[in-house]
Amino acid sequence: MNQDEMKKAAAEAALEYVEAGMIVGIGTGSTANYFIDALASVKGKIDGTVASSIASEERLKGHGIPVMDFNTAGQLSLYVDGADESTRHLHLIKGGGGALTREKIVAAGSDKFVCIADESKLVQVLGAFPLPIEVIPMAQSLVAREIVKLGGTPELREGFTTDNGNIILDVRNMEILNPVEMETVINQIAGVVTVGIFAHRPADVLILGGADGVQVLS
Ligand code: A5P
Repeated sequence: MNQDEMKKAAAEAALEYVEAGMIVGIGTGSTANYFIDALASVKGKIDGTVASSIASEERLKGHGIPVMDFNTAGQLSLYVDGADESTRHLHLIKGGGGALTREKIVAAGSDKFVCIADESKLVQVLGAFPLPIEVIPMAQSLVAREIVKLGGTPELREGFTTDNGNIILDVRNMEILNPVEMETVINQIAGVVTVGIFAHRPADVLILGGADGVQVLS
């Protein structure tokens, strides 16, 4: 099995969490795309979806799956999304696709967060993957200086604007030993919209596709 097949296997396994009448929160990225494609086969049984990005919204609509406004959908039963890294505590780094803020919003408003990934995403310590931070454009230099004080090396994601009109700083050299604390500290920097650490609201279930099949951590 190659990495794409592992992502697809994890995505298809997440269908088990989809129940009749649910409004399902949908993440962003290549693994979430496999989930959207799988969801199309059961679209008649759900009431609709809420998308965490314009890209996912377009893919959902392409399958004829209804997409609702998060403000009118209320609390969601289920959110399904990928991740760039996960620990065994289900603390995540997300935002490789730049959709971290909307992903965090939808995750925060969902009873269950099922994370889907290939097994290469499972790590001992978060931080080998450059940590994405969504930043208000005028605060770029300020936030970068504060991140350097924390030991990180920030780099502007060139030519990229988020769905919210902001920039992304990708931060290298961060060994995130205490994800809950680091999420709090970075979110307190003026001008930070969201850091891509998902620790205050971790995943509830992690479905990992691997060479020997799918394993579930919770
Ligand atoms: C999108 O902003 C991210 O949080 C994705 O969930 C993450 O980058 C995983 O992407 P893949 O499923 O493409 O690996």
